[in-house]
Amino acid sequence: MERILVTGASGQIGSELVPALRERYGAQNVIAAGRATPLAPDVLESGPSTRIDVRQYQDLDRAIKEYEIDTIYHLGSILSARAEGERGLGHEVNINGLFNVLEAAAQNSLERVIIPSSIAAFGPGTPADNTPNETLQKPNTLYGISKVFGELMGGYYFDKVGLDVRGVRLPGIVSWKTEPTAGTTDYAVAIFYGAIRERRYTCYLRPGTYLPMMYMPDAVLSLVQLAEADVAGLQHHADFNVNAMSFAPEELEAAIRKHVPDFAMDYDIDPLRQSIADSWPNSLDDSAARREWGWSPKFDLEAMVDDMMVNLGRKLAEG
Ligand code: SER
Repeated sequence: MERILVTGASGQIGSELVPALRERYGAQNVIAAGRATPLAPDVLESGPSTRIDVRQYQDLDRAIKEYEIDTIYHLGSILSARAEGERGLGHEVNINGLFNVLEAAAQNSLERVIIPSSIAAFGPGTPADNTPNETLQKPNTLYGISKVFGELMGGYYFDKVGLDVRGVRLPGIVSWKTEPTAGTTDYAVAIFYGAIRERRYTCYLRPGTYLPMMYMPDAVLSLVQLAEADVAGLQHHADFNVNAMSFAPEELEAAIRKHVPDFAMDYDIDPLRQSIADSWPNSLDDSAARREWGWSPKFDLEAMVDDMMVNLGRKLAEG
């Protein structure tokens, strides 16, 4: 019987991963952990939860022992744009916090730790199109540097400490349940709120800015599928590219306009987020993930937009 701890459970991904894991492994076996922000009501009500600040080793150690944890999904993180403005916090959470998670997992002999990396682990010198799994990684954001740290430490703990660490480099994630904040790819979610509420949206990235993107059900699938993969088949550990779709703002606008014919988008470029987006890949080569653990996404742009319009439309109508 697996006992799972999820950090960052109130975030964009955590708030959807927790219900999916509870469905799969039993509600009582999935412990949702957050820091300051209150956990979403359905996450709180549907199973156990605890307060963890990943900057505090003792918080992690206590929760692991108290709930007899054997797997951690470590999603707690300060996203790219915010970490540029709050370097101290970004360092404490994304680097010290990650180290605490790995070390607490090793000290307590856990079975497995899942730590998502990101397209942010690449940088301006990386080939941007169909970016290979193995390539130049010199990110120029604090968030991206912390993701490379996580990838390397994942391999280190696997080889030197015998802790099974796994992770995918997630693209920008589109979802309707919890709105992301503080990231560079957030426009691809905010645009739906604008389209449904006001039939207009002002985009902070330039037209032509291609980024790898993924719909939330595929993001959850990628994490769970990798976590369950037979370790004997894995040559990589915490550094798998996973691709699903790639689009520029005007292409997402056109796809939404099929649902909202008078949707209007204009631009007010944010230099910080534009420069971050420009340093990230346009699309990823994910053949290693396909080969080693059978990765295959289900949603393309059109299917994602259809589903977003229905579900976000319903959520906003219900208030
Ligand atoms: N979605 C994240 C961000 O924009 C990338 O991992 O910061």
